[in-house]
Amino acid sequence: MPEQPTSPAPERTVALRRRSDFNNWISATGGVLAVCALFSFALLVWMDFAKGDKNPYLGILTYIVAPGFLIAGLAMVFGGAWAQHRWAVKHAGAAADKWRLDFTSPAQRRRLVAFAIGALGFVMLSAFGSYQTFHYSESNQFCGQVCHTAMNPEWVTYKRGVHARVDCVQCHVGSGAQWFIKAKLNGTHQLIAYTLDNYNRPIDTPLKNLRPAQDICEKCHWPEKFAGNVEMTFDHFLSDKKNTPYTARMLLHVNKSQPGHPSGGIHWHVNENERVEYFATDAKRQVIPWMRVTNRKDGTNRVFRTDDFKGEPPADKIRVMDCMDCHNRPAHMFPTANDAVERAIFAGTLTNKLPNIKRVAVQAMSQKEITKDAEAPQKIADFLRSKYNEPDHAPELAGAIAEVQKVFAATIFAERKADWRVYPNNIGHKDWPGCFRCHDDKHKTAQGQKVRSSDCNSCHTILAQGKGNELELLNAKGMDFKHPSGELDAELSCADCHNGGIQK
Ligand code: HEC
Ligand code: HEC
Ligand code: HEC
Ligand code: HEC
Ligand code: HEC
Ligand code: HEC
Repeated sequence: MPEQPTSPAPERTVALRRRSDFNNWISATGGVLAVCALFSFALLVWMDFAKGDKNPYLGILTYIVAPGFLIAGLAMVFGGAWAQHRWAVKHAGAAADKWRLDFTSPAQRRRLVAFAIGALGFVMLSAFGSYQTFHYSESNQFCGQVCHTAMNPEWVTYKRGVHARVDCVQCHVGSGAQWFIKAKLNGTHQLIAYTLDNYNRPIDTPLKNLRPAQDICEKCHWPEKFAGNVEMTFDHFLSDKKNTPYTARMLLHVNKSQPGHPSGGIHWHVNENERVEYFATDAKRQVIPWMRVTNRKDGTNRVFRTDDFKGEPPADKIRVMDCMDCHNRPAHMFPTANDAVERAIFAGTLTNKLPNIKRVAVQAMSQKEITKDAEAPQKIADFLRSKYNEPDHAPELAGAIAEVQKVFAATIFAERKADWRVYPNNIGHKDWPGCFRCHDDKHKTAQGQKVRSSDCNSCHTILAQGKGNELELLNAKGMDFKHPSGELDAELSCADCHNGGIQK
């Protein structure tokens, strides 16, 4: 039999099949990175939904950083494949591959084991890292100190306030799905602004995206347990040579309600039967020409307006009054220079032995020339030295300078342009318009009816006033206010003269 010609030996398909372009070290590393990022992302989203919805900064990590790594990982996967492909085309026929993963080579196998262990460690680290970052970004330290220069005024004022143990996020973010996205976007925006150093100085208030007061404040203070009267004592020192003390003790009628009677008193504005709305013409809500009281049950309402204000306010600018319209500085109270100095004298940390120290200290603090925090100590020292240059002032002077510098640092934040002048406190009426924005006898209904409670005894009664022995004479019926600098012109509002610095 003639020999059958042998067919050519079949090709060794195993060796010659073109392997996938994805089979290379770059793509493999990218793959691990992408898996880790995806894993972190899933974990963060879960934490964010489960308990983190009060934390805006977590959003940056979750929705920007983790996806960023995911994209980078995927880019490496495809980039590696592309490079491998290019290489293969260019070097067709040459010794196969450049970055190829080859399980048959013992050297590569060893490397692969090391790679796998490393990858596993990386996955675990990224999980741990995400978890730690989550906790860190929730902390007050992060909110108040990492953004140090930006948040220093808020941090300092917060630490000395009654709410110093309430976390920043409890007021600023709170919980609830509705605020979730809002807070995330806002937090991201803030961090970017901080990084680029282009945030506003001062930071604008009122904050547009603060949660409704009811959701924040009423978690801890609910209207049913509001106090009846609250006694408050205001200690002052006059701007005279002797720094004469002047004190007013008064009873604030926060809640005058009797069981079974309609709510009355200062907290009437947030009672459940009526709704108070108002329109402010300025961004700081200091000028209020229009307001409306609506009975929630029968829908009847009364509109009060000033004579100057004609027409109707735009519907989207009408605000329903809530806790924050009076308590707008619950955590970051910026005292006036006047009050801060008086408090230091009252506490004994600032001497009252120097003549006129009250006035001089306030002037030293509010010099226009101080534009940076760093230059304040020197300017304050120079100012005080120029005023007290006699030998008998010397023993008290050094201490006074140090104290005024300290008071300044906690009151005026030149670098951030943050102090009482830009952050009005609406709770009273002495240094800012406050209650007198509405209770000024100038708002009337169409029938000419004025706002109730605009005389001096409707919101509070003065129990005692003056100094020394005068304060021992309490008067439960309340006494007329004796203004320390004499009779007051009824046409003038307190804040027309009292501006927190030296009285005009
Ligand atoms: C008890 C509630 C509460 C707590 C706690 C709180 N804040 Fe505030 N914060 C407010 C209110 C209310 C405002 C002012 C809102 C307005 O005027 O619109 C405000 C305003 C701010 C502002 C805007 C600038 C300003 O001074 O008005 C910043 C920034 C701020 N807070 C940061 C923080 C930081 C950081 C912390 C934690 C260290 C913190 N807050 C804790 C309630 C709170
Ligand atoms: C997490 C709980 C909590 C939240 C939220 C909270 N507070 Fe308070 N608040 C407290 C506690 C506790 C005190 C009492 C502190 C003390 O007696 O020293 C207090 C005290 C006060 C006082 C009395 C101040 C004083 O000088 O004695 C006012 C006013 C007040 N809070 C208003 C608010 C307002 C407005 C909000 C919403 C922005 C708010 N609080 C949110 C816990 C809270
Ligand atoms: C015409 C301007 C003017 C008006 C209006 C005015 N004051 Fe005064 N007030 C002064 C002067 C001046 C002093 C004395 C300043 C000093 O000794 O530090 C003073 C002192 C005081 C003091 C004690 C000192 C201090 O540091 O605060 C109190 C409290 C006070 N006024 C409350 C009021 C109240 C409340 C009103 C509104 C009902 C009011 N004042 C309206 C000018 C005014
Ligand atoms: C946005 C305007 C507005 C502001 C700001 C405001 N009030 Fe009023 N207030 C009203 C209106 C409107 C009434 C109801 C007047 C009426 O029915 O004649 C009222 C009524 C009252 C009453 C009488 C409640 C009762 O027993 O019937 C008191 C007390 C009172 N306010 C105190 C204050 C104090 C204190 C402040 C500042 C911390 C303040 N108000 C700030 C608008 C305001
Ligand atoms: C019309 C202005 C006004 C509104 C609105 C208002 N408050 Fe007040 N609140 C006051 C005044 C004034 C005081 C007396 C203390 C002071 O002057 O600082 C006071 C006192 C308090 C106190 C301290 C009571 C005590 O026993 O020491 C708390 C807590 C409080 N308010 C919480 C709230 C909460 C929560 C809301 C919103 C539901 C609210 N307030 C709405 C004006 C207001
Ligand atoms: C609409 C309510 C309301 C009316 C009307 C009102 N006050 Fe007040 N007043 C307050 C509140 C609220 C405070 C407390 C502010 C705080 O917590 O710091 C206050 C504080 C004061 C203080 C102490 C301020 C300080 O810093 O020493 C004096 C003095 C005072 N009032 C006098 C008057 C006089 C005088 C009148 C009449 C012209 C008057 N008040 C009318 C609500 C009112």
